[in-house]
Amino acid sequence: MRHFRLCCDTTAIDSDEWKTCDIMVLKIESKTSPTCPHSWTRRSIDSAILQQWWKGAQVGMVFFRRHYMITLEVPSKDKSYHWLLSWITKHATRTQHLSVETSYMAHESGRVQTQFDFHPSPGNHIIWYGRKWIRVERTREKQMIDMHTGTPWESVTFTALGRDRKVFFNILQEARELALKQEEGRTVMYTAMGAEWRPFGFPRRRRPLSSVVLEAGVAERIVDDVKEFIGNPKWYTDRGIPYRRGYLLYGPPGCGKSSFITALAGELGYSICLMSLSDRSLSDDRLNHLLSVAPQQSIILLEDVDAAFVSRELLPTENPLAYQGMGRLTFSGLLNSLDGVASSEARIVFMTTNYIDRLDSALIRPGRVDLKQYIGHCTHWQLSQMFRRFYPDQAISEGQRFATSALAARTEISAAQVQGHFLLHKMDPAGSIQNVTQMKE
Ligand SMILES: Nc1ncnc2c1ncn2[C@@H]1O[C@H](COP(=O)(O)OP(=O)(O)OP(=O)(O)O)[C@@H](O)[C@H]1O
Ligand SMILES: [Mg+2]
Repeated sequence: MRHFRLCCDTTAIDSDEWKTCDIMVLKIESKTSPTCPHSWTRRSIDSAILQQWWKGAQVGMVFFRRHYMITLEVPSKDKSYHWLLSWITKHATRTQHLSVETSYMAHESGRVQTQFDFHPSPGNHIIWYGRKWIRVERTREKQMIDMHTGTPWESVTFTALGRDRKVFFNILQEARELALKQEEGRTVMYTAMGAEWRPFGFPRRRRPLSSVVLEAGVAERIVDDVKEFIGNPKWYTDRGIPYRRGYLLYGPPGCGKSSFITALAGELGYSICLMSLSDRSLSDDRLNHLLSVAPQQSIILLEDVDAAFVSRELLPTENPLAYQGMGRLTFSGLLNSLDGVASSEARIVFMTTNYIDRLDSALIRPGRVDLKQYIGHCTHWQLSQMFRRFYPDQAISEGQRFATSALAARTEISAAQVQGHFLLHKMDPAGSIQNVTQMKE
């Protein structure tokens, strides 16, 4: 510590010595005048004091942060990241800086549904939670991109006063419950994005199993099998058998294969991981990885498994340069990936096809496909059941009359055709029977 005296004729001040000392005590003499020719020296001293003060404040701040504040950083890769964004949206009601996330879904009927979700934008937000002020900082890296998803790397950091971690546990738990509540009674559809599964669109309202009318006993057969499988993990581990089960639903288009799987997922409270094997960016490694990281309690759905390999063989000859250099899925890669699907969780793989005869027998051998089920055109029983479901106040005999007239007009009727026909006669069951011959192809 050194002492300086500030006055016009003080040589110590002119010598710059004061700039290097750690702490200085200045004694400003009253005779110092603003008109003094050495007034620049006073300005230097002022700024030095400021600098020292600022340095001290920074050190103090670091000390304070380290000992009296608690922070939690959540990177965008973490499962809870999206839950937390929704939680922040719910709590940071006063923030004026928002970013939008648009969900888009095209229904089978052609109806398009969109939803805009606001989230607090990158920057700082202050939230009052649990009798504490919490600073939430959302940062988005400009230079770093998540190679799997192609989105900028992001993170949120929560900062609170005190040392109690409980506040963060509470926030995480609340965020999780909030997210699960939004998904309650709904089926989440995941699609593969890069090397991870991302929820696709809105979680769909669960479709009741009874709304998919299959031939008598068919739905029960599959549901019982799946439930029995889920309920007996020990049976598999005791025998050293991989805990997975494969199903193949095959048959003509529009007869309810996909609808049934969706309804089944709803019944089990599972989500669906929809995988397109015709995706040209899909390689053996990627498929293998995706199947092993699929969310827990989900059904892996491979639609139109026949199409993938047929079209794959055609494409290079049609346009040999088109996908050069991109990883492509090979048939043996697919088989290996299916064999590798095993986890302590029940792993259920459903495949669908319109042409079972085009499938290689290796793909559908037991172990890869354990249960095959034909889902065919509507039978008499199905037609009358569908009629009764659509027009609940009609007599059983009316349903049978509809089924008989429909089958008299043509033998191959898909459930999708019947559904379309009923929609044309929404309020008119008699008209639907009368015009049954006009059912559209
Ligand atoms: N058995 C059924 N009971 C009730 N509705 C059905 C049934 N089958 C099909 N539908 C209706 O028909 C439409 C198409 O059905 P879905 O997509 O399940 O057929 P699919 O067998 O998967 O056809 P594809 O082979 O072309 O994929 C859906 O809107 C669904 O509601
Ligand atoms: Mg389908």
